[in-house]
Amino acid sequence: MRLTRRSVLGTAAAAAAFGGLARAEPAPQVLRAQAGRQQIAPNGFAETDIWGYGGAVPGPEFRTMQGARFRRRLINDLPQPTTVHWHGVRIANAMDGVPGLTQEAVQAGDRFDYDFAPPDAGTFWYHSHNKNVEQVARGLYGPLIVEENAPPEVDADLALMIDDWRLDTRTMAITGDFDNRHDLSHAGRLGNITTVNGHFDPVQSVRRHDRLRLRLINAANARVFEIGFEGLEGWLVALDGMPLQTPAPVTGAFRLAPAQRADVIVDVTAKAEAHLLSIERDGGYGLMRFAVQPGPRVRRDNAPSALPPNPMPAIAEPAAAPLTEMRMTGGAMRGLEPSQLGTTLMQPRELYELGKFWALAGQVDRGPAPFVDAARGETHRISFVNDTAFGHAMHTHGHHFRTLRADGSLGPWRDTLLIDPGETRQVVMVADNPGNWLLHCHMLGHAAAGMMNWFRVT
Ligand code: C2O
Ligand code: CU
Repeated sequence: MRLTRRSVLGTAAAAAAFGGLARAEPAPQVLRAQAGRQQIAPNGFAETDIWGYGGAVPGPEFRTMQGARFRRRLINDLPQPTTVHWHGVRIANAMDGVPGLTQEAVQAGDRFDYDFAPPDAGTFWYHSHNKNVEQVARGLYGPLIVEENAPPEVDADLALMIDDWRLDTRTMAITGDFDNRHDLSHAGRLGNITTVNGHFDPVQSVRRHDRLRLRLINAANARVFEIGFEGLEGWLVALDGMPLQTPAPVTGAFRLAPAQRADVIVDVTAKAEAHLLSIERDGGYGLMRFAVQPGPRVRRDNAPSALPPNPMPAIAEPAAAPLTEMRMTGGAMRGLEPSQLGTTLMQPRELYELGKFWALAGQVDRGPAPFVDAARGETHRISFVNDTAFGHAMHTHGHHFRTLRADGSLGPWRDTLLIDPGETRQVVMVADNPGNWLLHCHMLGHAAAGMMNWFRVT
């Protein structure tokens, strides 16, 4: 039969009349993981071969409404298996994108449909979660912005993904030393060039006295950025996607560890040029520039009010919650103790030979048993004890937590917490999202070299 418009319509009408066929859902929009080429190094230098979503880095900026259904079809056009993790979204477990734990890795040429409704408004991001020490370093990440129903009034709302790249300084190609043992056992893969939204020192045009919402996202493999502003003044309003109860004036530089986000609302006070800076020992380096055009004569006189709160669980009696200690061990200078790999207790030398340098609670990689086994709705405390010579950015999947301070007060909600060498931090969380959830260091080389564990909520 030749299909004419009439016959197609007729068939559909007939099917509807029988009520036998549910109307097929339209296919989700495609998110293609693929190779691309981009100007990462400063203009005038060679372009760099990258891997990106849609062939660019960052991938498309997704903006969706809080609570609305969000679907994307990952198509893998890479030469390796991959998955997508929606970092910070309190998502259904099957959509979390962890190969071997929540789904099978998507093979080259294959696809996977992600389908979820983000419960929280805020700044999130998505990134590869397979071989991510390599795949994220090659550029497989993008911003996921979940809009508030009543967003604050600003003149511009910019998602800024900050990264550092390790490029061969002659060819500008990404260096392929992802399993470099020195990086794995020290501070991780640090780069030699920084970008914001995939470009070196980009310029954004603004007006004097404009109010900007900047959504800073650290997509770097391992670098902890110390963020500074010049010619921009304002308030920190959210961390890791979660609104602060009260906006906090930004009075100096602040640290942003890998995977962390900070939302700031700032007014442009500079006359000609403002800067987003990375503060380092020997001074401040420009991450990006704001070219300032003339604007309103005066600055707004009101401070922004707090962002509308997300539907977070109440934490009753945090100090009474069961407490589990997670000792972080290994790495250069301190070294591992005999630790468990799978179900086998192994000597440090054997583990080093396997490229494993770190352990969490005596376990290297994801072991057979969860680190915490929680009944749904239970409140749990974890004490992170950093017995290593390096800082670590500890990230929980599917849940945010709050730090519990010595005086019993609770810190802001976070999904990634930087813990300095020698430091102990206690966190408390409500295990309200059922499933098997990863807990790991977001210095991606550390995670690849063993700094990974998991917890279960049933
Ligand atoms: Cu940003 Cu396990 O992930
Ligand atoms: Cu680490």
